[in-house]
Formats: sequence, structure tokens, C-alpha cells
Amino acid sequence: MSITIKTPEEIEKMRVACRLAGEVLDYIEPFVKPGVTTAELDRLCQEHMENVQGCIPAPLNYAPPGYSPYPKSICASVNHQVCHGIPNDRPLKKGDIVNLDITTIKDGWHGDTSRMFVVGGDGPILAKRLCAVTLECLWLGIGQVRPGAHLGDIGAAIQKHAEKHSFSVVKEFCGHGIGRKFHEEPQVLHYGKAGTGVELRPGMTFTIEPMINAGKAAISELPDGWTIVTRDRSLSAQWEHTVLVTETGHEVLTLSAGCPPRPASLG
Ligand code: MF3
Ligand code: CO
Ligand code: CO
Repeated sequence: MSITIKTPEEIEKMRVACRLAGEVLDYIEPFVKPGVTTAELDRLCQEHMENVQGCIPAPLNYAPPGYSPYPKSICASVNHQVCHGIPNDRPLKKGDIVNLDITTIKDGWHGDTSRMFVVGGDGPILAKRLCAVTLECLWLGIGQVRPGAHLGDIGAAIQKHAEKHSFSVVKEFCGHGIGRKFHEEPQVLHYGKAGTGVELRPGMTFTIEPMINAGKAAISELPDGWTIVTRDRSLSAQWEHTVLVTETGHEVLTLSAGCPPRPASLG
């Protein structure tokens, strides 16, 4: 399959699925407190998606080639976990950083977004800086999206900013086209060279979801077959939006009322 260009009707359905994914994060934020388990956060999000929003949680039983079916409805990646953390019964502690990654299916269309939360509202200065710089990386990548730009422009902007802050970019996982399918072409790398790669065209929809490590870039997979951790056990952060290429630039489809805005630090 090649890169799909969405029609105006399809884009309208993507807007709905994507806004709902953002609204799950708005809903769950007040529950992310010391003592709560990620399994409880998973249960609350699943109930909200299924019973309030009338959505399907896309991760549940998701099984790409070579993977066992994913057992939960959200991903919850804590501290040195990079992505795809499986919710479990360990309580979160004040100062932990956790990424919650939500993917909804509404009317056959997917919306995919994730945010970082600092448990208890405050944590180590490095953890907070890593979360802030990673959000800046996401928005610098989004800022490159317009017709005629290249995928490499996104990766280059993200890599430059992360490395300027002495952080490193995870190379093994990337953003992705999204639509009727959870993961479509193209792959959206979070590193690379400006002017290289696929040229962007109106109607493309894809995610940008940089994973940035405080230490080295290398990762390992845990024996559960899903959870990715930093090899050096340094902290890792990730933020994700689903983005549409418009005639004049871009539209961020996963914005919601409680979503942190584009950082003012970027000017
Ligand atoms: N939501 C993740 C992404 O951004 C993918 C999670 S796959 C799962 O692409 F099976 F772990 F949910
Ligand atoms: Co994604
Ligand atoms: Co995601």
C-alpha cells in the first residue's frame, strides 16, 4: 500500500476520531496522581472510550506481524520506558514521568495522540526539562508540515533541537501514516536530513511522535514482547499528535480543550 490521500469526507471523520483521542487525555489527567496504578488508568480510559465516547480502543488485541496481541487499551510508559509500556499494578510515585498514549477508532477511522504527565505535579529538574524539550521537538516537527516540504524536514528539525539540549533521538520507532489503519505509510522518522524523503501533499495524515532520551539513544525490548526501555535506563519522554497536510500548511487533528499548546518558548 502507498500513502493514502484522504477526501474531505474522510478528513471530517479523522477530525472526530482525533479530537476524541485528545479528549481521553483531558479526561484522564486528574487521575494521574501518586498511588494510582497504570492498570487503573487503563480501565478508566477504556470505560470512557467505550461507554462515553462510543469508540474502540485501537491498542486492545492489536497484533502487528511478529507481535503477540497487545493486552490493554492504552500504552503507559513510565520513566525509562520509551514506549508501548503495558499498564500494570505498580502505583505511580510523585516525580515519576509517564506517557499515556491513546488511539481511538471511531466510525472506522483512527486518532492517535500521547502526552507526558509529571506525577504529583512536580519532579526532578531533568525529568521536567526532558518533557519540555520533547514537546518543543514535537511542535518544531509540526511546524515543518506544509505541501512541498519533505518528511526529512520534520526529522531534521526534531533531531537538531534534541541534540542541542544534549538529549538523543530514539531511531527504531517513528511516526506513521494513519487513517482507516492504525499504522500506514509513510514512516515519519524523528531524525534525518532536510530536503530528503517523501514530499508532502494535501490530504496526507500522519503522526509525529518523537521519543527523546536523557542519555544514550539505544533501546531494549522487555521479555513481555512490547515494552521498550532505554538500554542505559535513562529517562525517556514522548509526545504525539496526528497531523493533516492542508493546502496552506497543516492542521493538528488531535487538539482538545486540555491539550498543552505549542510552547511559547518557540516564538
Ligand atoms: N500508539 C502507538 C503509536 O503511537 C502504538 C501502540 S501499539 C500498541 O504508534 F499495540 F502498543 F498499542
Ligand atoms: Co502513533
Ligand atoms: Co500513539
